[in-house]
Amino acid sequence: MYTPEEQKQLFERSKSFLDTKNPVRSLPVEEQVAHLRKLINYHEWRYYVKNDPVISDFEYDQLFKYLEALEGEHPDLITPDSPTQRVSDDLIEDFSKVAHLTPMLSLGNSYDADDLKEFDEQIKRLLNMDMEEDIEYVVEPKFDGGSIALVYENDALLRGATRGNGEKGDEITANTRVIRSVPLKAGFSRKGVHKVELRGEVLIHKDRFKEINKQRAAEDLPLFANARNTATGGLRMKDPKEVAQRGLEAFLYTLGYAVDKEGNDLIQQFETHAESIAFLGELGFKVPKDGDELKVCKNISEVVDFCLKWEERREAYPYEIDGMVVKVNNRVLQERVGYTSHHPRWAIAYKFKAKQATTKLLSVEYQVGKIGSITPVAKVAPTQLAGVTISSISLHNEDFITEKDLRLGDSVLIERAGDVIPYIVKAMDELRDGSEQPLEFPRQCPINDTEEAVDLVRVEGEAAWRCPTCVCGAQDLQRMIFHVSKPAMNIDGLGKSLVERFYELGWVRTMADLYRLDYDKIATLEGFGEKSAANLKKAINKAKQSPIYRLLHSLSIHHLGQKVSKLLAAEIEHVLDLREWELEDYTNIKDVGPKVAENVMLYFKNERNIDILKEMEALGVNMQQTEADRPLVADESAPLFGKTILFTGSLQQMSRKEAQSKAEAAGAKNISAVSSKLNILVVGEKAGSKLKKARELGTVEILTEAEFLDLLAS
Ligand code: IVH
Repeated sequence: MYTPEEQKQLFERSKSFLDTKNPVRSLPVEEQVAHLRKLINYHEWRYYVKNDPVISDFEYDQLFKYLEALEGEHPDLITPDSPTQRVSDDLIEDFSKVAHLTPMLSLGNSYDADDLKEFDEQIKRLLNMDMEEDIEYVVEPKFDGGSIALVYENDALLRGATRGNGEKGDEITANTRVIRSVPLKAGFSRKGVHKVELRGEVLIHKDRFKEINKQRAAEDLPLFANARNTATGGLRMKDPKEVAQRGLEAFLYTLGYAVDKEGNDLIQQFETHAESIAFLGELGFKVPKDGDELKVCKNISEVVDFCLKWEERREAYPYEIDGMVVKVNNRVLQERVGYTSHHPRWAIAYKFKAKQATTKLLSVEYQVGKIGSITPVAKVAPTQLAGVTISSISLHNEDFITEKDLRLGDSVLIERAGDVIPYIVKAMDELRDGSEQPLEFPRQCPINDTEEAVDLVRVEGEAAWRCPTCVCGAQDLQRMIFHVSKPAMNIDGLGKSLVERFYELGWVRTMADLYRLDYDKIATLEGFGEKSAANLKKAINKAKQSPIYRLLHSLSIHHLGQKVSKLLAAEIEHVLDLREWELEDYTNIKDVGPKVAENVMLYFKNERNIDILKEMEALGVNMQQTEADRPLVADESAPLFGKTILFTGSLQQMSRKEAQSKAEAAGAKNISAVSSKLNILVVGEKAGSKLKKARELGTVEILTEAEFLDLLAS
């Protein structure tokens, strides 16, 4: 796509444009605009296709804004392929239908090694080949998103369309233009190609999907069921600006039609499928990576191995895939094998084990969380789903049940989405026989097993019902479980099940009880002995010395995370000082919001809470500010004061995280890209492109790990 020299030149020219005083900014406007477009296209390719940017997001934004400004002053210079023109202001009224240049067929399915061997034999029969001979196949992931067809004419993106019925699809050009990994211009003409049609799949990265749902949860919008729906739904939105927000990506997997100006077929100049994919990669498209995501296999047994390997990799892969696609590599052979009306005979999908299944909703149980939120949990008839038996599925909250109209006795469709958590997609209302019972969310605490009924409350703007005054101890149990957990007091060897066991034995009722356990009695428990009881004692004694930010975080105060706990810890000498604090004492601290302020204040005005804390202090739990609670304020004499630093390669004497906090403590700021803003690059073993770039820049101080440590000691 770009030669190393070109890349170097593009990088350097970007730097020149970023420097507002550089003479490039005095070039004629036409030239500047032309340069900037090339630069931005290059950086978009590094970022969206290669996932390996060479300038920071901020620097990219500067280039983009500068181009926008020039185009704003000279609107006559704007062309449709300018990177600023990806997003249009026009809303899509209605999707019009367009005919595909060749039909978009489907794929036949296979489910195991035998099916794949049968496919191979069938092809050999069709080709009159000996069964012992080998056929070369290409195998790629079967991306699970929405299929698209892109047409380029004269090297410019002309049209984007959905698959539709295979003959005609919806015209979604404006929405495909905002997908940053889809080039608006691509050099097909270098092979004499005038018009092409490409096929691919529009996807959303699993992390981006989670981020979108997190955002939606914060805004109280209904969550998307999975990454696939988020991607396909994204393609069909009416406002391209909103589509752009979604961060869609497109993997291309077919170059199916290519003609020259006279309409002569040019597809046969790509002898194999792998070659045509490599060509698309060279033109800047996102394609399955050769040797990793795409493999040319010399026979069907290599195909089987590759498919099985990918089935294991599926969960860890950052995009949703539901199988692999196996294709005869050679185009001449493909045509000889031919097509049915439904699918090519030369290709087949190898489907991974189902991630969706149907089961029966038997009952609903309720769980209470550490701040009293009541979570409904569906008990379903145990069902195998992608290798795991599922019998419980969270229903999140009352709104989820209402929106899905779930009823006891319903047949429900369940799936395990990108992460391992099972999820109810929908009730299959067509299977109802009238015996299903509506689900009514309780208005009184369903966990409470005492005589005294407690009304649940629902705070405006929140989805959960909460039990405000726990009388049965269930919330205290959840708080104890959180108190001992890793992000809180981090008590080694004391986890959820052990706390629950102690609770059932009646040994612990509040957090304070965790510090007065009888270790002789513990030693007699099944599964315990002297040694393990002594280890537990040691771990608990160690936790008593924890810095107070951990203790504050461990109290299960709504919204009080580790970050605000640290901010508070830095302000107080003793935890119980907070008894005297009023609302504005909290909100005066930067980054402490009104909600958390109120919650912490109420917690420390509550006598029961104070009594428990006093008991804990008497039992030896540290309540005084420690070294770890004080903020790291580097002064001007700190060895790295005011410097920016970046670690690359694998460090031998410490983890990357440790190195970064050491640097921070010494007054440096960690940044993530090599640019003119970087002062120090610390290189571990096998440092790669970052080191190279830092050397090229010539302004970065390059240190080994040992030199870095020496510098800190100085
Ligand atoms: S090849 C004519 N390759 O799977 C060949 N399809 O059931 C058909 N898909 O809707 C397409 N990843 O969108 C091919 N690497 C891949 C694919 C792939 C996903 C989708 C495609 C189609 C469906 C076919």
